[in-house]
Parts: sequence; structure tokens; C-alpha cells
Amino acid sequence: MKKTEVLVIDDERDTCELLEMALARQGMQVTTCTTAADALEKIASRDFDVVLSDLSMPDMSGLEVCERVIALRPDVPVVLITGHGSLETAMGAIRAGAYDFVTKPIESKTLGVVVSRAVQHRRLREQIKMLRAAQEANQTIIVGGSPAMRKVADLIERVGDSDASVLIHGETGTGKELVARAVHNKSKRREGPFVAINCAAVPHSLLESELFGHARGAFTDAKATRVGLFQQANGGTLFLDEIGELPIDVQPKLLRALQERKVRPVGDNREIPYDARIVAATNRDLENEVREKRFREDLYYRINVVKLEVPPLRTRGSDTLHLAHHFLKQFAERSGKPTLELSERAAERLMAYEWPGNVRELENCIEHAVALARFDQVTVEDLPEKLRGYLAGSFVATANDPTEIVTMEELEKRYLLRVFKLVGNNKSRAAEVLGIDRRTMYRKLERYAALEGGEGAAASAPEAGEHPSQPPSAGAASSPPSSSVSSSDPAAVSATTEEPGEATDNNGASAVHPS
Ligand SMILES: Nc1ncnc2c1ncn2[C@@H]1O[C@H](COP(=O)(O)OP(=O)(O)OP(=O)(O)O)[C@@H](O)[C@H]1O
Ligand SMILES: [Mg+2]
Repeated sequence: MKKTEVLVIDDERDTCELLEMALARQGMQVTTCTTAADALEKIASRDFDVVLSDLSMPDMSGLEVCERVIALRPDVPVVLITGHGSLETAMGAIRAGAYDFVTKPIESKTLGVVVSRAVQHRRLREQIKMLRAAQEANQTIIVGGSPAMRKVADLIERVGDSDASVLIHGETGTGKELVARAVHNKSKRREGPFVAINCAAVPHSLLESELFGHARGAFTDAKATRVGLFQQANGGTLFLDEIGELPIDVQPKLLRALQERKVRPVGDNREIPYDARIVAATNRDLENEVREKRFREDLYYRINVVKLEVPPLRTRGSDTLHLAHHFLKQFAERSGKPTLELSERAAERLMAYEWPGNVRELENCIEHAVALARFDQVTVEDLPEKLRGYLAGSFVATANDPTEIVTMEELEKRYLLRVFKLVGNNKSRAAEVLGIDRRTMYRKLERYAALEGGEGAAASAPEAGEHPSQPPSAGAASSPPSSSVSSSDPAAVSATTEEPGEATDNNGASAVHPS
């Protein structure tokens, strides 16, 4: 077994030697330093099992040494040597983050016990981390074999071994976080931590100290030193979720950290190196954010070394069913209904629906259905109302059932919105395909927006040539179907239009997303 490596810091050389002798006798390998500055340099470049430091030294107090060691290497336990009987200093040591303390005069046996316990504590923490990482690795099973998802899986495999920054883009609920974890689990950093921060969820005032840490006393509530997430992710991956929401004034600081591979904790003038791979995710169109000056271009290029596009569920064909079965199995087992299956009619409904909330919405819908299911099968009646009432385009075109027939106006609305979406939300192209002039197209979109009540085509429809990711009125999770045709190919709508993007058949409910 590897020898325990101890770093001893004491300004008196004699004490250093005594401590070295005592610890070496117990089979430990000891390095000594007589100045704190020298010790911190060694700690930055080497991983000691434990640091043993005197409390009062001329160049730096033991408490400060302790804080700095924690900032550099949060996993390394620090044991402080305090004067005899001073409970207050001992408490101060613990408050500064020391693992333990020994009082002078030091008894060799006590010293051995304290140091060994600190090392044992560290090893246990490492084991817990590894177990947690292994458990998380099990949770990153990405279900789906559609061409769109195979492309994602292939890219995850290919970027795994590199340290390149990855930017994951996709609509809400598509599985961006799951993909981020998969990138981590495929990387050589898989044994290290996966540290995630949701940039949209952390209050603006705390974001900087969360990311970079802060020194004790940096602001009113900063009672102790805080290790930033960059440092916590050492040896692993730092996942910056919802990066598009990062406030503009924090962006230069993040850029600097990424460029220098060092962070500066709030209220501290030192820069601390870190060793973490950066993976970021967003559901925003960051290029557009850059154009609108809400996101720095230099930061965009720094995080977007490899881009991973997670496709919307509606373009993944029968993955919807594979996912449904996957979630059904999970929830059915959890709720003591292990034999539960999906009825054919319910499966049809799942395939026809457009899933604006993507995989998360499907997961939620299956959980709902499992909770309500009374027999061995999940039936249409067990599905949430929005699915039961959902009429995909193909139902209208081929409707036999009188209850599925809609008015001419409704039909026109669905058809128009469908075409609008198929041509990548481009009004001029949609007008051209439909054989109406642009102004009529605008008027109709405005009217449908008003009918939908509120946010709709008029408010959110783009100008010609723009390609936002959501069609008008299709943004809300419960919006009705925007289609009345079963065609998924704009070329089938008009021979004159160019194919604006990829289309995957999804039982007539498929969509084209702008390329
Ligand atoms: N391909 C998949 N296989 C299995 N489970 C999946 C898959 N994709 C997503 N999930 C599950 O769906 C849920 C949503 O995924 P996740 O949180 O990764 O999405 P997201 O894109 O980060 O969402 P948001 O934009 O809301 O942050 C999670 O419970 C996740 O485990
Ligand atoms: Mg997410």
C-alpha cells in the first residue's frame, strides 16, 4: 500500500524535524516546510494525504494556511497544532475548516492517531464519491435508437476522451442534463465529480461566489471561506446548466476563468488553478443571444468547442414508444404493478402527440397513467386529458368518426400553422407555398394568435428569413394540434419549396425543425 504522505509546516526547523521523526516512525512519508508560502506552492503541485500546520507562524497564521489549503484542495484534511489548553483557538481552527487539532506539547502517539484518522476520513470520502459516481453512471441510460439519437450517442462517444468544452443545445425536457452526465461518464474524468449548477436558479448576487468561491469576510454573510464549484469539480466535470441565463456582468468573469484555467474567489486577490472539464447546456438559441448582445460572443466560442444538439422528441419516431415502455417499467415497479402494459390505443395516442415538453412531459404523462391504471393495461382513459383530447393531423384527414371532424376555419388554421412550421416559420415561404400573399398570411397568423388568446403568431411570429425554434401558438404545453395534414415533408405541400430541415415520420405528427 502507498505510504501516507504528510506535509508538515512549522517555522521552527527543530519542531519540523521532531514531527518528521515521529511520523516517519509510524511508516509515513513526511515533507517539511518552514514557511507557509513554500508549503502552499508544494500543495498546489502535489496531492498530500494530510497537512499538519503550526498555528502561529511569522509569514501566515495557521488559520489562513488552513483556508488556503481548503481553497486549493478541498479534499485534503488539515490538522492544526495549537497552544495548550486554548479552547478558543481550537474552535477557531475547526471553524476555519481544519479537520482536527493537536495541542502542544505533542505526544507522538496522539499525533499518530490524529493524522491516521484524518487520512482515513479522506479515504472514506473518496470512496463515497466513487460510489456516487458509479451510481450516477447507472442513471445515465439514454433510451432511443432513432437516427437522431444515434447521432447524439456517437458524438458523446467521440468527445468522451477529449477535454474540449461541450455545448448541449435542445428544447426543454429533451434530456440535456442526461447527455451532460453521459459525456462525463464516457470521459477519462468519470471517476471524478460531476458538479452541476443551474445558472438560472442561483440568485444573481450569489452566482459569482457559488462558481468561484469566496474568502472569509468577503461580504457580510461570508463567515467562512467557501470553495467554489470550479474547485469542487477538480478532476471531474463542471456542468453549467442554462448557461443562456447567465447575467451579462458575470460573463466576463466566467470567460476569464475558462481562458486562464484559474479562478479568483470573491474578496480574494489570488488566482487558484482548477482542473475541470466544462459542459454547458441551454435551450436558447445562443447565436441569436449573441446577435442581440445578451450573450458575449467570445464566451460563446469558448464554450461551444463541440456542439451537441439534442433533438426534440417529436422527431425521434418510435423512440417515443421505447421511452414510454422504459418509464412504464420504472413507475409500474415502483407502484407495485409490475405486470402493467401499454394498450395499443394508448400507444397510438402517445405516438400522435407532439410533446412540446419532450421526454420530461412523456415521463410525467406515464407516471400519471400508471397511477390511474386499474387493470393490467394502461388505456387511453388513463392518459392525461391533453393526450386524450389530442387530434393529430392524420386523424382529421382520415377521420371516420364524426366527433373528429372539425370546422373549415379550424381546418384552415391547422393547415396554415402546419405549413408555417414545415417551412421553418418563414412567413414569406409559407405564403408562397399556400398561394396567398404575404399580407393575408400575416393577417391570418394574427387572427389565430388572437383566437389562441395572448402569446401567439402576432406577438412571436418572426420576420421573413428568421427561424425561431417554436412556431407561433405551439409553445404552450397544452396547445392544440397545429396540423390538419399527415404530410411531414414540405416538398409534399408544394413542389416549389426547398426542404428546410430534417423530417422524421412520426405517425403523421412529425415536424420539421429549422436547420
Ligand atoms: N433518452 C432518454 N432516456 C431515458 N430518460 C430520458 C431520456 N431523455 C430524457 N430522459 C429523462 O427525462 C427527464 C428530463 O431530462 P433532462 O432533465 O436531462 O432534460 P433537460 O433537457 O435538461 O430539461 P430542461 O430543459 O427542462 O432542463 C429526466 O428525468 C431524464 O432522466
Ligand atoms: Mg436541464
